[in-house]
Amino acid sequence: MWSRVDVRALESLGLGSLKTLNCPSNSPLIRPVPTKVIAVANQKGGVGKTTTAVNLAACLAATGQWVLLFDLDPQANATSGVGVEKLEGASAYRPLFGEGTLLERIKPTAFERLSLIPSEVDLCGADMELARSENHLQRLALALQPVRDSGKFDLILVDCPPSLGILTLNAFATADGVLVPLQCEYYALEGISMMNRVLTQLRAAGVNPHLEIFGVVMTMFDGRTKLSHEVVGEVRNLFGERVFETVIPRSTKLAEAPSFGKPIIHYDKYSAGSAAYEVLAQEVLERLNKQ
Ligand SMILES: Nc1ncnc2c1ncn2[C@@H]1O[C@H](COP(=O)(O)OP(=O)(O)OP(=O)(O)O)[C@@H](O)[C@H]1O
Ligand SMILES: [Mg+2]
Repeated sequence: MWSRVDVRALESLGLGSLKTLNCPSNSPLIRPVPTKVIAVANQKGGVGKTTTAVNLAACLAATGQWVLLFDLDPQANATSGVGVEKLEGASAYRPLFGEGTLLERIKPTAFERLSLIPSEVDLCGADMELARSENHLQRLALALQPVRDSGKFDLILVDCPPSLGILTLNAFATADGVLVPLQCEYYALEGISMMNRVLTQLRAAGVNPHLEIFGVVMTMFDGRTKLSHEVVGEVRNLFGERVFETVIPRSTKLAEAPSFGKPIIHYDKYSAGSAAYEVLAQEVLERLNKQ
């Protein structure tokens, strides 16, 4: 069962950190199931990565999960998508190089149980600087470890930039799984074989031996077109059960919600897009529970 000890509840009872509880270390009571990190990635641009990261994070938080949305894209669309202002120096950039911590970078959002590590344009420079640094594939894993250890989050969703650059590879190096949004269009699978190759290489090189595709989600589905149905069929043939049953419809509400700084569930709860991401969140939870 994928559940966790509520560290905040213990703290509010004055019990402080888990270490102050004098219990055997293997006690199920004090052994929180580790925080899961899911990288939302596809090197193809505009396929619904950010829309999926933001809305899935919000829907998971609404079901009672403590969720950290980590904006790792210099475009910072996930940051504005949850209504947080882009601020110079607020991104993960400095902590990636050991200056300050990611814990200090976490910002609350207006939405219960949903927190954010914001991005801003300075992350553009991180790729090049990472390339020159030692342990260049593991910088994010190192910086994220204290966040994982804090026990504050059930799930960390990382919104990756549209490339297989070093930032994305860093997300892969620390992720428990990759969630791949695929747009229901003719070239949906373009680039996926490249991403698969990269995942295989990262596993083989021991960078992240257990890295797998956690799931594939079809986005911008238009049920009126033959093409949308054909693409979904083709992707299901290729990826089988890794494709989520839930398909995200093309919806104007989903496209306009970010301009109000709100995930769809808080912008128009009764829209088809909101329903789709809520059902996807349930599927994600079921899948995590089975792991
Ligand atoms: N289901 C949907 N229905 C309608 N519009 C959508 C849907 N999903 C995403 N969009 C719109 O498509 C555009 C691209 O989506 P999004 O920003 O989520 O993709 P992305 O993969 O994160 O892009 P990038 O590669 O630039 O980071 C945005 O304008 C978004 O509002
Ligand atoms: Mg994006």
